[in-house]
Amino acid sequence: MSKLSPVLSRAWDDPRSYTLEGYRRHDGYQAIGKALAMPPDDVIKLVKDSGLRGRGGAGFPTGMKWSFIPQGDNKPHYLVVNADESEPGTCKDIPFLMANPHELIEGIIIACYAIRADRAFIYLRGEVVHVLRRLQAAVREAYEAGYAGKNILGSGFDLEIVVHAGAGAYICGEETALLDSLEGYRGQPRLRPPFPAIEGLYASPTVVNNVESVASVPAILRNGVDWFRSFGTEKSPGFVLYSLSGHVTRPGQYEGPLGMTLRELLDLAGGVRAGHRLKFWTPGGSSTPLLTEEHLDVPLDFEGVGAAGSMLGTRALQIFDETVCVVRTVLRWSEFYKHESCGKCTPCREGTYWYVQMLQRLESGKGTDTDLEKLLDLSDNILGRAFCALGDGATSPVTSSIQYFRDEYLEHLRSGCCPFDPALSTAWA
Ligand code: NAI
Repeated sequence: MSKLSPVLSRAWDDPRSYTLEGYRRHDGYQAIGKALAMPPDDVIKLVKDSGLRGRGGAGFPTGMKWSFIPQGDNKPHYLVVNADESEPGTCKDIPFLMANPHELIEGIIIACYAIRADRAFIYLRGEVVHVLRRLQAAVREAYEAGYAGKNILGSGFDLEIVVHAGAGAYICGEETALLDSLEGYRGQPRLRPPFPAIEGLYASPTVVNNVESVASVPAILRNGVDWFRSFGTEKSPGFVLYSLSGHVTRPGQYEGPLGMTLRELLDLAGGVRAGHRLKFWTPGGSSTPLLTEEHLDVPLDFEGVGAAGSMLGTRALQIFDETVCVVRTVLRWSEFYKHESCGKCTPCREGTYWYVQMLQRLESGKGTDTDLEKLLDLSDNILGRAFCALGDGATSPVTSSIQYFRDEYLEHLRSGCCPFDPALSTAWA
């Protein structure tokens, strides 16, 4: 029996699903009436009880985050939707926004009502102009239909929704750098605490939630907590979008309960490309430690992947077969982190630079016996010492590749070159 559970992707076969009418055809805008009839705190409690955890990667309980917003203060409250999806291999929010922008908008209305915010910002990565246009059109439709603006559906609740495009920096997906960028400054992370829930946008209480987290809320309101908890596991309930890419027969987004395994997802996606076998994969983009064939049956939930020594992250499952040189792949990712490091803290700025220097040497077979220990030592000096998660993430592919593929690194030293035929390796494609 297929374990797929299309909820967020239920209308993706409908070519007009992105319109207001299309969304209404698929149960759209049925949850706000319900939410607006409840006291805001009850909406927060419902989301808390559902066990929904942040879908941007970290898995922080969404309802708990909402409950941190102080009540009875006289500061404005904000909701900021993080649509700056940039983690390598992550491609779930962008297709979701193209197909279902109104489901995000409905989630925004419910979230803002719950946290008593009258302004929401959607921070979208700047490169995806087609998504920007689609989102702007959907927000316009929502205003025209009375789902945004003054006195929504006669409830007395007012809400302004602003779509903002970033300028293409990975760091601006880090929530505090995103807030700086939204305020018009250069995007660099802020020290936490205070967390945004206490001091966020314009130093006011702000919930920063990933697109998929907010978009999961209308279905919870429509169908209830027990229904939501019937998917996934006790500690990681619900459904998620898994993105499969790389050497897989049918790459794309597969929606299913948390706790599926890569083996099950590969069965649905036609397996690793014909004639090849799995070598390594990422559970949630390159910032999560690599896993191998021995982890095919690890449950893809926060606990299962954690117990396997990695992190669930964004469920960006990048599949690499035996034709790929792991050293070359890690070098390529390290170049990305070096390029995207904002330069604010020394461990990340200098560490990612030295990663690239050493990995280039190793990949071309010109490294030395001590380089692997130096790479691990450097990783120790980045992990936990960088200002934000970018530096920590950069260490993941390096340390995990040495853990599982030390021999392949040594083979480069013995051969004096990359033992893989560059024409066959697709890591540079
Ligand atoms: P984190 O675990 O530090 O925080 C997660 C969320 O919980 C944040 O919104 C934070 O404000 C909130 N939070 C945590 N402790 C809190 C407290 N005591 N009080 C109030 N709020 C609290 O994780 P972080 O650094 O925000 O994100 C790292 C994750 O981002 C990684 O797991 C990675 O998978 C993911 N990521 C996702 C990307 C994407 O494109 N979606 C890109 C890069 C990383």
